[in-house]
Amino acid sequence: MLCPLPIALTIFLVLAFSEPAQARRSVPGKVPTALARIPGQLVRCGWLAQKPPSRPLLNTTKHEVSVFASRELGVSGLQITQLTGGRSRAKVFSATKRGALKGVVKVYPNAGEVSLDMAAVDKILRAGLKEMQTIKVQATTSVVGSEQGVALLSAAKGRFVADSLAALGRLRRGNERSAALERLSEDVRKVAGAMAEQHLSMATGKVVTRRFKEEKLQRLQRHWFRVLKSGLVTTAEAAKVNTALHELSSRFRAEHLSATVIHGDAHLGNYAVANKVTMIDMGGMRAGAPAALDVGRYWQSFVGFGAMSGLTQAEVKTLQGAFISESIKRNPALRQSHASQSVAAADLGIHALSMVVAKRTPANGSRDGSSNDGVARKMFAQVQATLGIGAGSLATSF
Ligand SMILES: Nc1ncnc2c1ncn2[C@@H]1O[C@H](COP(=O)(O)OP(=O)(O)OP(=O)(O)O)[C@@H](O)[C@H]1O
Ligand SMILES: [Mg+2]
Repeated sequence: MLCPLPIALTIFLVLAFSEPAQARRSVPGKVPTALARIPGQLVRCGWLAQKPPSRPLLNTTKHEVSVFASRELGVSGLQITQLTGGRSRAKVFSATKRGALKGVVKVYPNAGEVSLDMAAVDKILRAGLKEMQTIKVQATTSVVGSEQGVALLSAAKGRFVADSLAALGRLRRGNERSAALERLSEDVRKVAGAMAEQHLSMATGKVVTRRFKEEKLQRLQRHWFRVLKSGLVTTAEAAKVNTALHELSSRFRAEHLSATVIHGDAHLGNYAVANKVTMIDMGGMRAGAPAALDVGRYWQSFVGFGAMSGLTQAEVKTLQGAFISESIKRNPALRQSHASQSVAAADLGIHALSMVVAKRTPANGSRDGSSNDGVARKMFAQVQATLGIGAGSLATSF
């Protein structure tokens, strides 16, 4: 039986929109103070004993999360709701009181990831940006007998673009929906502006190294090989994608790119919009990277979130257009980095597809009964479109 598109897309979006966590060692009870750069990557260095971590949790049930959040916030009667969380990724809980969001508790699979997030928050705070801000890490703890790390985060101000997109998708076609699309385009332009401010203000003054580019391309190749191995694509289709990827890689290598600090997982669920834009989930932040990687990834994420939210292709294009035109207006150098944006867009699509095909045939070789080939084929069509192959190309309008 084919898995319905929205369910499968939810699963893959949830699973796939993060850069895979690198092997991170947990350092229970320790918090990083500063950032060091080891070839272009932010790493933790030094440890701060400023605010000791809270008493460890025995487990991460709603009750325990509630006790932790209440104690740290000094607020009783919190309602805890789980927002996200699967077997292998972070669990996120909202802590509300009478409908008002007081904080968010995030349970990371590995305590080291708390440190990476905190280091990135620190880096953004120190950059003193005007349009972009981030949340604060208010308290941390660990889980007894587990690698997991737990952080209490301040509530992001405003509305997540992913949530606004979902709300838009629920409206009937007509004036109301058109007005909501226009408002959302305005939000998306704000994200573009704030992202540009971040990328320009945090430029390192150097260019992106060859090594960085090769790492990025190797990652893309790895995901693509996984798709090839799955047998989902025909030899003829594979040949076309190979040619397109080869050509794209050459153009990416040739681009002269300023290096900056990027979010690293820039998608619609990681930016909230109010007067300012608030960026969350920054454990994948990297220095020495081109702005175009965030821009291309964000641009491409309209496709997956749009499909999941029931948007039309025209609406997705409107939002992508609003985002990319404002991005280029604010950061004109992006005009010279089309290939980098396409690499980020292709990477997002192929990575998501590789996650879906990885689940296609279980290790024992038998189908798991919820074959998602239909979804995978749709996603493959999107990947082809991103690469400018086949009918109905969505993309390459950067
Ligand atoms: N500080 C916060 N304030 C408000 N909402 C938040 C906050 N942190 C997380 N959320 C909500 O929870 C969702 C998931 O959080 P987060 O992005 O940190 O988790 P994640 O598992 O790393 O997600 P992904 O890998 O899909 O990007 C966000 O998209 C947002 O809707
Ligand atoms: Mg996120």
